[in-house]
Amino acid sequence: MFKSPRFLVVAAVLALSGMASAGPLGIGSTATAEMIAGWDIDVRPDGMGLPNGEGSVAEGEGLYEAKCASCHGLFGEGEGRWPVLAGGEGTLDTLHPEKTVGSYWPYASTLWDYIYRAMPYPAPQSLSHEEVYSIAAYVLYLNDIVGDDFVSNKDTFAEVKMPNEENFFIDNRPDVKNERCFKKCADPSKFEIVTTINGVTPTGHFKEDSGVAANHYDGNPSAASEAGISTEKNMTKVALSEGATLGRGVYDEACQTCHNSGIAGAPKVGDVAGWVDRIGQGMDTLNDHAINGYQGANGVMPAKGGNMALSDDDVVNAVAFMVESSR
Ligand code: HEC
Ligand code: HEC
Repeated sequence: MFKSPRFLVVAAVLALSGMASAGPLGIGSTATAEMIAGWDIDVRPDGMGLPNGEGSVAEGEGLYEAKCASCHGLFGEGEGRWPVLAGGEGTLDTLHPEKTVGSYWPYASTLWDYIYRAMPYPAPQSLSHEEVYSIAAYVLYLNDIVGDDFVSNKDTFAEVKMPNEENFFIDNRPDVKNERCFKKCADPSKFEIVTTINGVTPTGHFKEDSGVAANHYDGNPSAASEAGISTEKNMTKVALSEGATLGRGVYDEACQTCHNSGIAGAPKVGDVAGWVDRIGQGMDTLNDHAINGYQGANGVMPAKGGNMALSDDDVVNAVAFMVESSR
């Protein structure tokens, strides 16, 4: 892209007009305090970063049921394959450890931070501080860590002790003690990722010509298996229409979380039998269901997969990609 003539023209226009001028490098503009506050939302284990506001277990119950229970279960037990949030005590040293907020997480502050930053999954950062205080209190209550009369604010929340905290300690193995390197460091191009988890490791990390599939869909199964990658989910190579080709990127960004592995009842892309009847409904219905969302027999398909920044055309292209890869 940087070699394209169009980019050069844009760069030249910017340089001539002198539009960008702030900062030590003469580019961009200085972030305002408000902009920085939007990013500066982390909460530390000692409670630093917790905002003002207050919530309670009682308030949290209704909010949790409305906004979280559809995936995480009424009691934090997890619906289908969505993450379990409660229980699992005493399982960490067994063959089937169940890592939940209560059994595993070392600090309550992480719960506040995580919910505020990332949940509910389809609408991250949509909750107010008060709502997060209430919902986080309720999740602690589901784990028997606080009582039903717990009122959470920045003081009480910082005092919550998690049952598994003492099992976290600073890694003291010798190989993590190397000096940080600032000059004459090893050449990064000499490093190569030798194993990867299909569908999880970003494909951008594959080194060109390392013999590893550069793409999940048209990966060469033999190269992939040499590299120790499961090819079970690799999809068959199909000639895609123009729309579907555009839609592949949208799919990777906004749809594969559910449709690659089929979580929450989502039909798996590439599963021909699972798509036959759906395709039979016609593209208009499929597009409408994907753009506007719907409740089906297997689960809820959120409008635009929960990513409202997508245009309708993006979604239509993604549907084309899914359909063409599944028949
Ligand atoms: C549409 C489904 C969905 C909804 C609704 C949802 N979540 Fe989640 N939640 C997820 C998924 C998926 C993950 C795992 C995300 C990841 O690992 O990147 C997750 C992870 C979490 C975790 C971390 C679990 C762990 O042990 O790693 C917490 C805590 C959590 N959600 C709380 C909430 C709360 C509180 C709400 C309601 C405000 C909520 N979630 C709503 C899907 C959902
Ligand atoms: C949070 C999980 C989730 C995400 C993300 C998601 N889907 Fe779905 N999708 C579902 C579920 C569940 C169904 C099946 C609902 C049913 O029929 O019971 C479904 C069904 C569909 C169907 C079939 C509709 C029909 O009528 O049979 C299409 C098409 C579809 N999704 C497109 C998309 C597109 C495009 C995206 C990304 C923009 C996307 N989905 C993202 C969960 C998801």
